[in-house]
Amino acid sequence: MNKLFTIDIHTHILPENIPNFKEKFGYGGFVSLDHHKPCCAKMMMDDKFFREVDDNCWSDEARIKECDKLGVDVQVLSTVPVMFSYWAKDKDTLVVAEFLNDHIADIVKRNPKRFIGLGTVPMQNPDLAIQELTRCKELGLRGIQIGSHINDWNLDRDELFPIFQKCEELEMSIFVHPWDMMGKEKMEKYWLPWLVGMPAETSLAICSMIFGGVFERLPNLKVAFAHGGGSFPATIGRIEHGFNVRPDLCAIDNKVNPRDYLGNFYLDSLVHEPKMLEFIVDMMGEDKICLGTDYPFPLGELEPGKLINEMNYTNAKKSKLLAENALNWLGVKKEDFI
Ligand code: CO
Repeated sequence: MNKLFTIDIHTHILPENIPNFKEKFGYGGFVSLDHHKPCCAKMMMDDKFFREVDDNCWSDEARIKECDKLGVDVQVLSTVPVMFSYWAKDKDTLVVAEFLNDHIADIVKRNPKRFIGLGTVPMQNPDLAIQELTRCKELGLRGIQIGSHINDWNLDRDELFPIFQKCEELEMSIFVHPWDMMGKEKMEKYWLPWLVGMPAETSLAICSMIFGGVFERLPNLKVAFAHGGGSFPATIGRIEHGFNVRPDLCAIDNKVNPRDYLGNFYLDSLVHEPKMLEFIVDMMGEDKICLGTDYPFPLGELEPGKLINEMNYTNAKKSKLLAENALNWLGVKKEDFI
């Protein structure tokens, strides 16, 4: 069988050299890279070790080489969520975002057939966020990646709505990625913020956008959520039932049953479990699941597309999941990449 055209919508990248933001801004908390040996670096949060990364985290040459080996035609690039820096001073978050967006735009410009770029914006200040979103569009990025919440705001907050509205107007897609996991102080052992907190964060983001009426008011907004929607798909029955029995709590901003929005947004395929992939494809529709691997991190799908390719699906259906749905989400054409 010929290999099917493959786009990975969930990959992360960092610039090889990150400025010393702590020195520049006069306070800490930012991530830096300590290049302690060739091809490897430690991601450091001030003096605290965060994770070890290889050169495929920053080198476009290394990534293209691996993509060729792994059968990935196009990667959608976004920053690593710890770089969002929404907690910093607004104007400093903007500086970080501009730096990261220029880096991704440059890589896309040099390799337009292999990469599509998503930006990051200072969501905690909607005016600055819209300013940088507009600049991202001019840079040729196809959308932005945002966190599952913004400091104390969930994604239903009125303050955030103008950003979503502008995304719809500019045809900039949104990738929602969990970060700053809820309850992390209660689960320091066993990597639980990643295993328990992240899926809950993604469900928090989806429920906030549904109940807050974001999808209702912006029907053309194109949003994709990471990790197969986290715990949302498995709990849709509970969410709908809650909406039905306690409309006084759930239906205060939007009267529409949450189930009606299934199929109005996208999920990536990163669920590591054939039955769950089948479930989300049935639930969301075969036009709404896009390959996502979390490259280059170890909790991702290490052989991109393996789960989809091993399903008992027709090639037409696999083609949708491996690339066509991603093209539709991002508003681009396959011809631009082959
Ligand atoms: Co990720």
